[in-house]
Amino acid sequence: MCSDRKKTVFWKVDAICPDPEIIRQAGLILRRGGLVAFPTETVYGLGANALDVSAVEKIFTAKGRPQDNPLIVHVSGVDPVYEYTSFVPQKARLLMEKFWPGPLTLILPGNGKIPEKVSGGLPDLAFRMPDHAVALALIKEAGVPVAAPSANLSGRPSPTAAGHVLADLEGRIDVILDGGPSGMGVESTVLDMTGDIPAILRPGGITPGRIRTVTGAVILDGTLLDNGETPPRPRSPGMKYRHYAPSAPLVLVEGSPDMVMREIIKLAGDYTRRGKKVGILCRDGQQDRYPGLTICAGTDDDPASVAAALYAALRLFEGTGVDIILAEGVEARGMGLAVANRLRRAAGGNIIKVRHNQGIPTFTNNESQEE
Ligand code: TXA
Ligand code: MG
Repeated sequence: MCSDRKKTVFWKVDAICPDPEIIRQAGLILRRGGLVAFPTETVYGLGANALDVSAVEKIFTAKGRPQDNPLIVHVSGVDPVYEYTSFVPQKARLLMEKFWPGPLTLILPGNGKIPEKVSGGLPDLAFRMPDHAVALALIKEAGVPVAAPSANLSGRPSPTAAGHVLADLEGRIDVILDGGPSGMGVESTVLDMTGDIPAILRPGGITPGRIRTVTGAVILDGTLLDNGETPPRPRSPGMKYRHYAPSAPLVLVEGSPDMVMREIIKLAGDYTRRGKKVGILCRDGQQDRYPGLTICAGTDDDPASVAAALYAALRLFEGTGVDIILAEGVEARGMGLAVANRLRRAAGGNIIKVRHNQGIPTFTNNESQEE
């Protein structure tokens, strides 16, 4: 029997000044209904022509993505936003002016011209203009809006390097454009512009504080910092899925850095005594203070650096054979909000909050703090 595996071609491309011939070929493949993975400033995306239903269906098949999880429409300028929506509020115009191209996705009411498959049957559509020369050149060359989720298998960490895309999707997609590592490392902020007050459905690269400078007020969806196990109907369909279930359970320890370290060292000792192989996800420079296997992601004083390294670090644990991952938390403030959201979802219910003089730590979901 013939398999339906296809040959995936892997093209290296300059991230600042992409080779026009490579972009021309990749754009043609998109226009003809193929799947092209491409770098963005957040994570790698898996693109298809948003106007071609069968091309969009291929995305769901390649990723194993639930059919009701809508895709973001990627554009290379603001014109398609007006072309494919019924109404663009003034605040959305201002946000596009200030933050596009950039890691901000806007949810706006569709006008029926983009197939329902893209929005998972919802009346609203998500739009984003990525801040990456390869992504922008590709979308422009394709000449169509490009539906693109993150280019990972569903349930795996988003890819922050072309090698991650290859590991997940080789044989399932047509092209991977390798433009080097994505800078930001966590996905865009998803902002619902269909209500009176803009509402953050997924925290990301643009913080609530920066949005507020334009919109005056912004609502944080109450489910953003829950643990990913039993979310009470989040408004962004993608947020109801356990985003990343590490092969080994991940225990997240949150609180002041000294208490977190003490707790992790204690837990590591407990698990090791029970014969478990422990992995520790910590900050740069702290590896010598922990026992056993450590993987570092970013620095304590800079949540953006944790964001940039987080998904690659989670993928690295997979080859190590650890039975349990103990992870240092970050403060859910500013860029830390997006990182805390992703870590909590990776942890499922396994969150330990430690504070000074608190005594025995308990498992809780914690209220959000935003900047
Ligand atoms: O940074 C990013 O946003 C990356 C890069 C590739 O652009 N893309 C990305 O796409 O993260 P994806 O599909 O992995 O996540 C899109 C999120 C999901 O949580 C989805 O449910 C939500 O956006 N979303 C998309 N369309 C929506 C809509 N019409 N209403 C509510 N949520 C929507
Ligand atoms: Mg995704």
